[in-house]
Amino acid sequence: MELLSAAMADNIGKGSMIRRMFEAGIALKREHGEEAVCDFSLGNPDLPPPPAVADGLRSLLGGMDKPFALGYMPNGGFDWARNALAVHLSGEQGVPLTGGEVILTCGAAGGLNSLFKAILNPGDQVLGIAPYFVEYGAYVGNHGGVFRAVPSRPETFALDLDALDAAITPETRALILNSPNNPTGQVYSRREITDLCALLERRSARTGRPIFLVADEPYRFLAYDGVEVPALLPLYPYAIVASSFSKNLSMPGERIGYLALSPRMEGREDLMAGLLLANRILGFVNPPVIGQRLMAAALGSQVDAGVYERRRNAMAEVLKEAGYEFLLPKGAFYFFPRAPGGDDVAFADTLRRHLILGVSGSAFGGPGYFRLAFCVEEAVIYRAAPGLRAAVREFA
Ligand SMILES: Cc1ncc(COP(=O)(O)O)c(C=O)c1O
Repeated sequence: MELLSAAMADNIGKGSMIRRMFEAGIALKREHGEEAVCDFSLGNPDLPPPPAVADGLRSLLGGMDKPFALGYMPNGGFDWARNALAVHLSGEQGVPLTGGEVILTCGAAGGLNSLFKAILNPGDQVLGIAPYFVEYGAYVGNHGGVFRAVPSRPETFALDLDALDAAITPETRALILNSPNNPTGQVYSRREITDLCALLERRSARTGRPIFLVADEPYRFLAYDGVEVPALLPLYPYAIVASSFSKNLSMPGERIGYLALSPRMEGREDLMAGLLLANRILGFVNPPVIGQRLMAAALGSQVDAGVYERRRNAMAEVLKEAGYEFLLPKGAFYFFPRAPGGDDVAFADTLRRHLILGVSGSAFGGPGYFRLAFCVEEAVIYRAAPGLRAAVREFA
């Protein structure tokens, strides 16, 4: 008996690589014990939230006897929360933003879904840069759009503007730029981004329909060695930031994120009206109350990025010593090394036999590579060293 729609059955099939690894990981931990398995599979930040989050939670408790303490609210979040976030983002992005240009969402994921619901006509295309965050295809497909991956430059994962230019068609509605990048750790330079904005302005003018530039940047806070993560809102009138407090405040389970529209965008009031409705009719109804209170209490603080930097350095040392080829991540908490032997699916299986969980690059549109998430304790990274050495030796 068919219980699933054809589209959902297809999606489940496509997602099977990560799911297979996830399920195998659970089985491995059951068989060998949690401690024996080195799990670098998921980007689930393990650091506790910064102290300001706990302070916010305590003061929230004090108001629990008030009416509507946890009640419904306007679709885009509390006005005071949108205003506070707008002030914060004005500083971060370097443009003056008001609460009317900011909407709170259920994570960056919810924000991207509300955005695509609001802007896509059936068959519209959204471009992404491969390798890419694995959920983009589903988010775009959810709203009748088509996700199209455009390769980045080989080896460096830098933007390939010629490939992007060639991929743009009259159906191109948006381009997603994820920097710092999951899975590659790449951070795009100001030069690359200004050239990209010039390209989008040129191509938008030609078709008479703006191509949105969506900056998916939950890892903005996590760039290493002083590398700049340029703000996009000042650089392009149809730029939209989609982000969240999942990583910088280590509270991904609380589902609080946002979209911010360039104050130079003509017609942004109409777009905001669409986003506010989308937030409700997609079933989110409104962003979480508690998350907004925690966000407001902790705006401007973040987890200690130095911890991630030490882990990145530890992982680089271990991978280098074992003989892997990789780029040192400039940001985020992922390594994306070459898969020894070239077959990333086979290599992820090999790692698993050595009780190491990573994800094959094909799951991100990056075959020939594999991803290791280093949001784990340094001890786990060092514990993985013998297994990583043994796995690479099998392909020597
Ligand atoms: C690149 C990227 N975009 C969006 C998200 C979604 O994050 P959120 O928890 O804010 O929905 C993630 C989560 O890992 C991500 O890596």
